[in-house]
Amino acid sequence: MIKFTNVSKRYDNGNYGLLDVSFKIDQGEFVYVVGKSGAGKSTLLKMFNREEMPTSGEILMGNVAPNKLKAKQVYKLRRQVGVIRQKDLFLPRRSVFENIAYALDACEVDPARHRELALKALKTVGMEAFFDRQIEALSIGQQKKIAIARAIVNQPPVLVADEATANLDDKSALDIMRVFTKINQQHFTVICASHDSTMVNTFRHRTLELSYGKLVRDDPFGGYSLKSDPKDIYIW
Ligand SMILES: Nc1ncnc2c1ncn2[C@@H]1O[C@H](COP(=O)(O)OP(=O)(O)OP(=O)(O)O)[C@@H](O)[C@H]1O
Ligand SMILES: [Mg+2]
Repeated sequence: MIKFTNVSKRYDNGNYGLLDVSFKIDQGEFVYVVGKSGAGKSTLLKMFNREEMPTSGEILMGNVAPNKLKAKQVYKLRRQVGVIRQKDLFLPRRSVFENIAYALDACEVDPARHRELALKALKTVGMEAFFDRQIEALSIGQQKKIAIARAIVNQPPVLVADEATANLDDKSALDIMRVFTKINQQHFTVICASHDSTMVNTFRHRTLELSYGKLVRDDPFGGYSLKSDPKDIYIW
């Protein structure tokens, strides 16, 4: 369970990233975060793993208040929140497996289990055949799937993705959305910030809409925005 109560984030330069935002997400939900550029989507996502801290308000992630954690305990929260960033960072000149094993190492998982766990995560994203490939030899869409496998390899209860389908062609974006659906069916909470109104309108899920840092819509039936893509047709 994730609960935000009157959360605001004011950056040091005076910008507001979030303004008085309250909502609750149950474990296992699939939630989109939408809104125009600068609306506060990334700021919101960064609260879940304490990449940023609120300036006021309360956050509860399960039984943990991230902003009250001692610095040396933050890793415990981060192990339970899988993150897919807009720009994926990988260890260069290493294989897909080595990149995923690095994440397992950070979670102090017994090296004897790395191969089996990496393969399982790669299967979930349909990339097991790429186990030994160099990371640079993969396309952007394939790298995104590896980033997802890396984020779920330790089976965190919450998966957070910032614009995971941005810059992908329709087919790759669809593949990624199918992967998220499958992961959500395995009882992960999935939270996706997205600009992609076609996806948000096609794979309908609860949608939180931000505007100038404020939560202006919490729609259980989803859809990008009441006004977006009124004649949207999407066939595959
Ligand atoms: N590190 C920072 N320092 C100061 N202001 C920031 C910082 N990060 C974000 N902001 C400001 O906070 C507001 C929300 O930014 P945020 O990155 O959360 O928006 P976003 O919805 O993710 O936008 P985009 O769709 O472009 O990714 C913006 O006004 C932005 O300028
Ligand atoms: Mg953003």
